[in-house]
Amino acid sequence: MVNENPIIVALDLNTAADAIVMATSVAPYVGAFKIGLGLLHGPGPGTIDALVQLGKPVFVDAKLHDIPSQVEAAAERLATHGARWVTAHVGGGFDMLEAAVEGLSRGAAQAEAGILGVSVLTSLDKFDLERIGIQRSPGELVGKMSKVATAAQCEGLICSAHEINTVKQAAPSLKTFVPGIRLGSHSDDQSRTATPSDALARGASYLVIGRPIIAASDPPAAANAIWHSLRSKE
Ligand code: C5P
Repeated sequence: MVNENPIIVALDLNTAADAIVMATSVAPYVGAFKIGLGLLHGPGPGTIDALVQLGKPVFVDAKLHDIPSQVEAAAERLATHGARWVTAHVGGGFDMLEAAVEGLSRGAAQAEAGILGVSVLTSLDKFDLERIGIQRSPGELVGKMSKVATAAQCEGLICSAHEINTVKQAAPSLKTFVPGIRLGSHSDDQSRTATPSDALARGASYLVIGRPIIAASDPPAAANAIWHSLRSKE
């Protein structure tokens, strides 16, 4: 039985106003709000402050990836807006992740905040990796990245449902944040997908869900149905 709501709704909308309206309407059925690159590079980080006012944790999917000093500065600034979680690519390396953790904790002051390592995007499969010269499978890469993320004191890792077990074995204390959640066969641009209950059964700590909720004809009803389906599972 699931008690705490593990659904993080990805508010991938065009304007801050649209994001706030969506967040308000689905708030009773989700545990947290996520904003990504579209809102951060459009309306900007003020969107975080507005979402924080709605009373749920805000996940800032900034996907930081630069030299450590720049990532440290960005993480610190995002934390001052009230980000509960900020993402940074594990591919940026150990020193960059450590700098992100340092910047975030300074910006958050006493508030709870954590860096989440982005492992292998759920839109990529083995063939995409081969094309950019990486011969390892997504699973192998995620295992290695888990060890780096945990050593750098990240709170969690973003991975597909298919790699949760690998993360748990490589770094048992890392929480897993799982995008690529789909209710049926329609996968949009995602490759490594799972249903909400399957991802939870595999041990996901949180489910990151965008279009299955925000592009539904009735987003609150869609979010409610997913939350209901998770609560009714043993
Ligand atoms: O609409 P959909 O459910 O595919 O949205 C998934 C969300 O999770 C998007 O906001 C996307 O940026 C994010 N994400 C992802 N894969 C990752 C990390 C984040 O799809 N590896």
